[in-house]
Amino acid sequence: MLRILCRTSVLAALLVWLVSPAMAAQSADDAERAIAHAARWPRTRSVGLIDPKIERWIDGVIGQMTLEEKVGQMIQADISTIRPEDLSIYPIGSILAGGDSPPLNGEDRSNASAWLETARAFRSGSVEARPGRAAIPILFGIDAVHGHNNVVGATIFPHNIGLGATRDSRLIRRIGVITARETAATGIDWVFAPTLAVPQDDRWGRTYEGYAESPELVRPYARAMVLGLQGEPRKRRGVLDGYVAATAKHFVADGGTRDGIDQGDADIDEKELIRIHAAAYEDAIEAGVMTVMVSYSSWQGVKNHANESLITDVLKGRMGFAGFVIGDWNGHGQVPGCTDDSCPQAINAGIDMLMAPTAWRRLFENTVRQAQSGEISLARIDDAVRRILRVKARLGLFERERPFEGRPVIGIAEHRAVAREAVRKSLVLLKNNGGVLPIKGSAHVLVAGAAADDIGVACGGWTLSWQGTGNTNAHFPNGQSIYGGIREAVTTMGGRAELSPDGNYSVKPDVAIVVFGERPYAEMKGDIRTLGYQATDKSDLALMKSLKANGIPVVAVFLSGRPLWVNPELNVADAFVAAWLPGTEGGGVADVLIGDVAGRSRYDFTGKLSFSWPKRVDQTRLNIGQTPYEPLFPYGYGLTYRKRAELPPVPED
Ligand code: GLC
Repeated sequence: MLRILCRTSVLAALLVWLVSPAMAAQSADDAERAIAHAARWPRTRSVGLIDPKIERWIDGVIGQMTLEEKVGQMIQADISTIRPEDLSIYPIGSILAGGDSPPLNGEDRSNASAWLETARAFRSGSVEARPGRAAIPILFGIDAVHGHNNVVGATIFPHNIGLGATRDSRLIRRIGVITARETAATGIDWVFAPTLAVPQDDRWGRTYEGYAESPELVRPYARAMVLGLQGEPRKRRGVLDGYVAATAKHFVADGGTRDGIDQGDADIDEKELIRIHAAAYEDAIEAGVMTVMVSYSSWQGVKNHANESLITDVLKGRMGFAGFVIGDWNGHGQVPGCTDDSCPQAINAGIDMLMAPTAWRRLFENTVRQAQSGEISLARIDDAVRRILRVKARLGLFERERPFEGRPVIGIAEHRAVAREAVRKSLVLLKNNGGVLPIKGSAHVLVAGAAADDIGVACGGWTLSWQGTGNTNAHFPNGQSIYGGIREAVTTMGGRAELSPDGNYSVKPDVAIVVFGERPYAEMKGDIRTLGYQATDKSDLALMKSLKANGIPVVAVFLSGRPLWVNPELNVADAFVAAWLPGTEGGGVADVLIGDVAGRSRYDFTGKLSFSWPKRVDQTRLNIGQTPYEPLFPYGYGLTYRKRAELPPVPED
């Protein structure tokens, strides 16, 4: 009964109805429109999460817990605002390291040992014996979204848009295994990945976090990444074997908002919501994903963080998700009527843990009061705590030993080799007129462009800092820039590589490789209003034109988090490669672009577009299977050295 009364969206509509008929009509429509019909959704079940023996053990633990301890398990604080000693007062169950939150030593860019010390300090704080208090280990989450990207020295893989171009699910799983190993070695047990967004408008600042514009590719990748990160559901020993908990995010339709506005409104019908944006959650749940993160965005005007029909009726009910649901960073605070320190609506909607980076103390106190008053039922509290303890137990957190911690696996050669393979397979050849590629290994190559020798730009957002800015090559001791890879390749074959960001040279080169593209960004800071690249400052185009004017063939290597309108640049370049955001293993670019001394390719292009490429700057919603569909390069496009084709001039108006 209480649950029905707490249907936030209807409650909000009724309250508004008292205020104004017009608003009431709209809000009631919104509320009615934003209710998901569970029977229309796929029926699935979590695999490998529920074990009767563990459930009985959880019964016993819950039976000993006070209400404060239960509520504490449902609150996640950020390590920038909580100290290990706080845990002796506040029984907080989880911490996270937000994109800009340093380990306890305070150094924003720290190596693995600083992160391991931090994890151990909080863990011992959480299990320190206290009279009458159950020792429940803390769960430590972090955004390891393209490798363990907060840690200096870690292997940084191409962002998901580049992995989509590889069309290689087995590679995705191998990347998941490596990411889990490097994360578990630093004592962290949970990563907020994979992102299962299916971006529909590439102006969205998080397009690159999506694997593809079509669920057809996101589905197998969801399964592969969850299995890579967590291990096989039935055999898993979690962190003991170097695995971590995964997060299917952001539920649901984070990539379907109007105009690609981050945290905006997905004003789409339920059929499209299910067919495009929910499909991959089926695969993640059946692969045993342990957590799901709710999206900031809204569906039909109602914030997902307050949508009980989506979280409880669909995700936990119809789709049988048996892990726990976490909110996004103060996402609960965006719910009408809520604040960062108080949101019974989100908990009653079915969110089990609230990500409360700053207001965690007051949120804890307010939520205890709301549970005592009955505004949040004890059944809801116990359900949330059960799910959280279930994941902690399946992860092996209650085991005394952590044999995988401290293992020297961060950025090791075998991990980097897999990342370099991913770079090679992610490259998409859009143009190769006159067969200017592959470049002979004995050639004199000018490497130009601001991004040529900048590993930070090649990594993009979510790298050592939230936005991926402020990094220098020194912050990537195990990495190699694109220029570094080219120099290494040609030098071993008697050639010469000259770095010249502005394109100046003393001796005319045989060919110029111009590495250019988007500067790093993350989330809403990457939202754009036009797909036109350098819409107001065509400096990269000017650089390529000047090289061409001197009779130098130009190979364009474009670094971007999405397809953009680059017709002028395409027309000037002799060859054009979409390299996305390749990460620390820039050598993978040279592997494909630089041939052997005879000019034969050493590796061919295999990458295929997982996002359609626009012909016109106004094609902001350009997705396979939708009309009109007139891309410059369609979903699945990619030239190879064997399958050559001359690209005629493309329209620049
Ligand atoms: C961010 C993102 C989410 C991330 C979380 C923790 O706002 O939306 O993807 O996992 O906060 O950093």
